Amino acid sequence: MTKVIIDCDPGHDDALAILLAGQHLDILGITTVAGNQTSDKVTANALKIVELMDRTDIPVFRGAQVPLLRKAIHAGHIHGETGLDGPDFPTPVKEVEDRHAVDFIVQTLMAEDDVWLAPVGPLTNVALAIRQRPEIVSRMAGISLMGGSLTTGNSTATAEFNIWFDAEAARIVYDSGAPIKMCGLNLTQQANATDREIERIRNQGNRVGEVVVQLLEFYLDAGERVTGVRKAALHDPCAVAALIQPDLLEFEAMHVSVETRGELTYGMTVCDYRHLRGFGSSQVDRGPLRQEANVEVAMKIDESGFLDLLIDALGRY
Ligand code: RIB
Ligand code: CA
Repeated sequence: MTKVIIDCDPGHDDALAILLAGQHLDILGITTVAGNQTSDKVTANALKIVELMDRTDIPVFRGAQVPLLRKAIHAGHIHGETGLDGPDFPTPVKEVEDRHAVDFIVQTLMAEDDVWLAPVGPLTNVALAIRQRPEIVSRMAGISLMGGSLTTGNSTATAEFNIWFDAEAARIVYDSGAPIKMCGLNLTQQANATDREIERIRNQGNRVGEVVVQLLEFYLDAGERVTGVRKAALHDPCAVAALIQPDLLEFEAMHVSVETRGELTYGMTVCDYRHLRGFGSSQVDRGPLRQEANVEVAMKIDESGFLDLLIDALGRY
């Protein structure tokens, strides 16, 4: 079974990513990073989720509480005051581990082979881990992340939240040489939950499903407020599905790096896909300014197959 560390900022879609991974991957640990909400809140939420899935054997580690340089700007308008609004979760009994998330990431990657990182929040922890122990880049199986976009942003016209929250950290990760699979908004906005999916999950009639129904009803309300349409992109589970059933997604190799100085483009993932537009190949055209492809960017997803995979996983709890 594929070994993974999920680095997250739960977050409604983070919760779904963890639940999906819980049925198909060997979760070595969950690390939390400030993002959707404060470190305290996202860490409490991670504990709530492992208790919900009856997997208190999975250790939870608190990570970075603030971005590397800029001020934290959370997303309470989407995920609510708790960061996981909707259901009434009991106060978690399970406690967070003493070890810092970055130390857990470094020590696990140095000790174990073939471990994937699945960051589905800001990349602060991953950047700190790479800075602390650069060798992890060659030791890891890879990074399957939710973040960035080939096209438009959500936090701004150009930047997606996970990257925008800490663009300096993201720059370190994208420029590190780590093998990256990127599920950006161009991909995740193809994978949406609607009331139809809520009904499918409700009809499975299990306890976890009922809590997910309440999560999704809150999340769809937020989606409707933002877009005017009652649907919500299931961003984070896409990065997990890429590890479970890669043939649900189509990827293209290209160079990607992160803008950290732009007044209007701070946090933009600048994706060089000129070769997809007939302007030379990503491997052959090595003009003086061209750079080698460093990221597999997800371009398409089989939405129906993805939703079936997720809903089936939710029904197995
Ligand atoms: O832009 C979507 C990302 O931001 C998701 O990871 C969501 O959980 C939020 O963190
Ligand atoms: Ca997230």
